[in-house]
Amino acid sequence: MTTTNQSGEPPIFEVKGLVKRFEGRGNGVKALDGVDLTLRSGTSLGIVGESGAGKSTILNILLGIDRPSTGTVKYHGCGLDIGNREQMTRFRREVQVVFQDPKTSLNPRMRIGSIVAEPLRSLKIEGDHAARVAEVLAAVGLDPEVVSRYPHEFSGGQRQRIAIARAIASSPSVLLGDEPVSALDVSVRVQILDLFESLKKLLNLSLVLVSHDLAIIGRLCDEIIVLKNGRVVEAGDTRSVFTDPAAAYTQRLLDSVPSFLEN
Ligand SMILES: Nc1ncnc2c1ncn2[C@@H]1O[C@H](COP(=O)(O)OP(=O)(O)O)[C@@H](O)[C@H]1O
Ligand SMILES: [Mg+2]
Repeated sequence: MTTTNQSGEPPIFEVKGLVKRFEGRGNGVKALDGVDLTLRSGTSLGIVGESGAGKSTILNILLGIDRPSTGTVKYHGCGLDIGNREQMTRFRREVQVVFQDPKTSLNPRMRIGSIVAEPLRSLKIEGDHAARVAEVLAAVGLDPEVVSRYPHEFSGGQRQRIAIARAIASSPSVLLGDEPVSALDVSVRVQILDLFESLKKLLNLSLVLVSHDLAIIGRLCDEIIVLKNGRVVEAGDTRSVFTDPAAAYTQRLLDSVPSFLEN
C-alpha cells in the first residue's frame, strides 16, 4: 500500500523491501538487504552509514541508474518505466544529483558556462540558457563572469558550488547528494551545507543526503535512516534519533559527533 500525506498526495519517493545483489565470486555481494524509505515533499532525508553500507547503491537505484534485485521504488506513487522517454525526461528534470568529488564530476575541458548549461541542453529545456546559467551561478554565490573559466581555476568548495549550480539549472524539485562535502576542506564544509539548506528553502526542494558523518546529516536533515551492512538499523526524525537512538550502533555514531552541531 502507498502511504499518503494529509492532502492525499503520495510521497516523492517510496521505497519498499529493496534488495541489491551484485554478482561476483561465490554468492556475490548483498549490498542492500530489505531497505524501506520514504521521502516526503519539502523534507530532507539523511542516509548515514559507514563506507560500504550501501548508501551510494540506494542513490543509484533512486536515480534509476541501477535497478534493485527485488523491491519497489515509487516516484510520486508510480513505478518508473525506463522505456518511457517522456516520463524519464521529466524525471531527470525533476531529480538531480550532486556527487562527492567536484574534481571528477566536472569535465576539466569544458568552460563553467557550458558545464552548468549541460542539463538544459541534454534535457532540451527551452529558453535563454545563458540567462538561466547566470541566475543559478548567482544563486550558489558565484559571480556569473566565471562562465568563461575552467574548473581547475577554482577551489574545491567553489567547484562544488558549480556542481550545485548545474544540479539546480533544470529547476528540479528533488536534490540528491552523495557525500557532497566529504571531499572538501573541513573549513568549507559548513558553507556548502548552509548553501544546501538555503537552496532547499529558496527553491522548495526535497533533499536526500548521504553521508558517513552523522553530524552532517543531523545539521541538515529532518529525518534520518542509519544503514549498516545494507540494512536499516534506525529510522526516525532527527531529534529523536539524536536524543533517543533505538540502536546501539547509532549511539556509537553519536559518540563520535563533533560539537559543531550544537551551535
Ligand atoms: N558495481 C558493483 N559491483 C560489485 N559490488 C559493488 C558494486 N557497487 C557497490 N558494490 C558493493 O556493495 C556494497 C555497498 O557499496 P556502496 O553502496 O558503494 O556503499 P557506500 O556508498 O555506503 O560506501 C559494498 O560492499 C560494495 O563493495
Ligand atoms: Mg558511497
